[in-house]
Amino acid sequence: MFPLSSLIRCHRHSHSRHYLLLHRLLKPFSSIATHPQAPPSSPLGDVPLSFPTYLICSSNTSVGKTLVSAGLAASFLLSSDFHPNKFLYLKPVQTGFPSDSDSRFVFSKLSSLASRRKIACSLLASDEVLQASRSAAAVTLPAGLAEDCKFGMFDLGSYTECRVLGEEGSAASELICRTMFAWKEAVSPHLAAERENGVVEDSTVLEVLQRCLLEAGLAKQNMNMFSVVETAGGVASPGPSGTLQCDLYRPLRLPAILVGDGRLGGISGTISAYESLKVRGYDVVAVVIEDHGLVNEVPLSSYFRKRVPVLVLPSIPQDPSNDLMEWFDDACVVFDSLFKIMLSAYSERIRRLHDMPKKAGNVIWWPFTQHKLVPEGGVTVIDSRCGENFAVFKVRNNEVITQQFDACASWWTQGPDATLQTELARDMGYAAARFGHVMFPENVYEPALECAELLLEGVGKGWASRTYFSDNGSTAIEIALKMAFRKFSSDDGSLSNFLSDDSTQRRAQLMVLALNGSYHGDTLGAMEAQAPSAYTGFLQQPWYTGRGLFLDPPTVFLCNNIWNISLPEGLLSHSLNSDEITFSSRSEVFELSRDKSNLAEIYSSHISNALTQNPESVGIIGALILEPVIQGAGGMLMVDPLFQRVLVNECRNRKIPIIFDEVFTGFWRLGIESAAELLYCVPDIACFAKLMTGGIVPLAATLATSAVFDSFLEDSKLKALLHGHSYSAHAMGCTAAAKSIKWFKDPQTNGNITSEGKLLKELWDEKLVSQISSHPAVQRVVALGTLCALELRAEGSNAGYGSMYASSLLKKLREDGIYTRPLGNVIYFMCGPCTSPEICRQHESDVAERSQLAKYPRTYGPDSTALIWPSGNEVGILSLGLLLYLASVFFRRGIGDLVFQEFQSERFDLGI
Ligand SMILES: Cc1ncc(COP(=O)(O)O)c(C=O)c1O
Repeated sequence: MFPLSSLIRCHRHSHSRHYLLLHRLLKPFSSIATHPQAPPSSPLGDVPLSFPTYLICSSNTSVGKTLVSAGLAASFLLSSDFHPNKFLYLKPVQTGFPSDSDSRFVFSKLSSLASRRKIACSLLASDEVLQASRSAAAVTLPAGLAEDCKFGMFDLGSYTECRVLGEEGSAASELICRTMFAWKEAVSPHLAAERENGVVEDSTVLEVLQRCLLEAGLAKQNMNMFSVVETAGGVASPGPSGTLQCDLYRPLRLPAILVGDGRLGGISGTISAYESLKVRGYDVVAVVIEDHGLVNEVPLSSYFRKRVPVLVLPSIPQDPSNDLMEWFDDACVVFDSLFKIMLSAYSERIRRLHDMPKKAGNVIWWPFTQHKLVPEGGVTVIDSRCGENFAVFKVRNNEVITQQFDACASWWTQGPDATLQTELARDMGYAAARFGHVMFPENVYEPALECAELLLEGVGKGWASRTYFSDNGSTAIEIALKMAFRKFSSDDGSLSNFLSDDSTQRRAQLMVLALNGSYHGDTLGAMEAQAPSAYTGFLQQPWYTGRGLFLDPPTVFLCNNIWNISLPEGLLSHSLNSDEITFSSRSEVFELSRDKSNLAEIYSSHISNALTQNPESVGIIGALILEPVIQGAGGMLMVDPLFQRVLVNECRNRKIPIIFDEVFTGFWRLGIESAAELLYCVPDIACFAKLMTGGIVPLAATLATSAVFDSFLEDSKLKALLHGHSYSAHAMGCTAAAKSIKWFKDPQTNGNITSEGKLLKELWDEKLVSQISSHPAVQRVVALGTLCALELRAEGSNAGYGSMYASSLLKKLREDGIYTRPLGNVIYFMCGPCTSPEICRQHESDVAERSQLAKYPRTYGPDSTALIWPSGNEVGILSLGLLLYLASVFFRRGIGDLVFQEFQSERFDLGI
């Protein structure tokens, strides 16, 4: 049945390919494939999930990773199964090359094992080396070929192939072994790369790796496929750029097999490696160790509490002349078990990912969501987050994990890049391990104290003296209201009246001065302080009365490349010079010199009138509450900073305590640590949450002046602020906040901090923003700090929070790798304070080309006038094009084809 002896035929193509690739050899790879500072947030493409891919990593070097890879390949390819299989072995980083080559080892061992064992299917094995440093290439290339270039990586293109015949006429299984990048010195990759002038950026390693997986997946045809990616050294050994490998490969979050250490000292090393992987969000599916007679598997199994299986391989012969064939035969049972564990973990993962949308639809009640409008296919399954990107499970032709830039900054909370995320995870783990949770009143512990001090030195600098911790933005607001009302009552004497006369009447009359379009949270008290809106109506909150005097604010926006002030109805009757309400740059809007303008006086008397005309019977204004500069949930409305400053001054003159709600605007959201600085005035009380912890865990703080604090100081406990939450000042939150506050403002860790340290660099491309503002489909644009928002021109039910105007368009954007969620017809993009502006700027040439929005009509007809006055469907179509275009700039996508396709296929869909 089987051929008498398996026939082995091997071909080496390496030298012939050298000549074919001569033109590329002369061009150092690094100069074409890497950038000195590749944007960390650039999303990767799809990573296939239609076959299992595992990361093979180890607690240290030389513990047998490559033997495990080869053993798994043997289990998969050399079973008696007649079905041809395909095994992809990838070694992204190889040092000690060419004398050491793990891909060659797997290739040659599998070829030998295949000819030794009776195989049903033939085996076609190949080994390829893609890129090598000059020193490594010089060893394998003909003399002189690698001499010309002094740095960079060479396209080596060495290729070896071998066929082992199985049963006659049988189909062939395939083993593809591939080394991606190789260096000569047998030292840590970062050192070899540096010494051999061949540094490869992390983004290049990931891109090549992702491409190898994707291509192999596409070419797998009907074969079962399995793949492993073998790391170099231990889990925390540096990669070629110096990034630890456990961080380098994290965006792919491949499930891991940890090859542990069976030697003396190996228990500790194995557990440390496991914890390094877990704290970075990896799933470790199994641990494998070599038997050194020390029974390390017993304590390891006990540590893993049987959740992670520990498998033991027979002792590996030390004699270098041993070809290990017998060892592989002996270890076969262990590899077969390991292989089964890996297959079943993979199937389980895929099953869970497939099932989640349906299950979620059955058991979860999402916030701000009309469930009737969410089909099962509309649910986004987020497998993980790495820095600014979601890793999302998708079923296209096959299952993939695809990266989506989180342009909502996960509901305005997120700040960390991938590095800070790892640091925060570790520090929070430390805090949880050190403190768990401890109750707060009359207690102190380091994270709470450090965080309080950092807040007062930072966002509270110059005015605040106390930090009150709670756990979310809404509660921070409720606390602020309690503080403000006490301060007001104690200043105006009503507190002492109340104490002498227990007049509850007076208490009920206190209300806030606030702005229409404001939002301060969803708890009942916080809602009372905000203006009537879609969030507060009878449908949502029948108890809502709106205890406030709500003024219409003048808003600011960019339209046709001019910054305009739109005055509310009550102010329209005033005649104003155009230079008072139009500005050629955003910075002019913020200028303090505007205080002397006619408009400042108009604002002042308007506010004064409103305050004096407010009848006391309606209520006494006991606090001013406002969101400095930007009203987020109200539709990303920019309020004229001059108006807010005048408002603050008017209230201060009347001893009305001032609350700044910086839950959204705080911590660099608007390009400055505290948005109060943009107003050039300070509050008495301010609320912070969201970005304060980097957005990784909930925590809120209400900061107050000493005068506010003093209004609660009395002998009686009953006059203290009798308010608190179970998780007040929890240690993990305070630790995360302390870390993030320092990280965001330090130019060493945040490349976006300008030299003066007060502002973020301009993150959005100003030219492009102004071009968008001139587009007829766009009503207004606001770009400030990490926020870029635009309102689509819409009328009737297409406008406002309930509008579904942008929904199909956003679906498209999500398919294109950008996760957005609109506020009705307002679409916004939000990045973190550390997100690199290069993401936009690297594509400045794309921008220049695409900024000719006039090109668009070519896609739907020669009559370009359609662009100038679009209506109906055309607005939708143009909006889609515009957003894709905008997104392309932010996220480095070649948008030309995309826009063209979208226009072709979606033009009639989008009359939303
Ligand atoms: C300005 C403002 N205040 C308060 C809140 C409420 O914060 P949380 O959702 O943490 O309760 C929000 C939430 O978006 C907000 O934007």
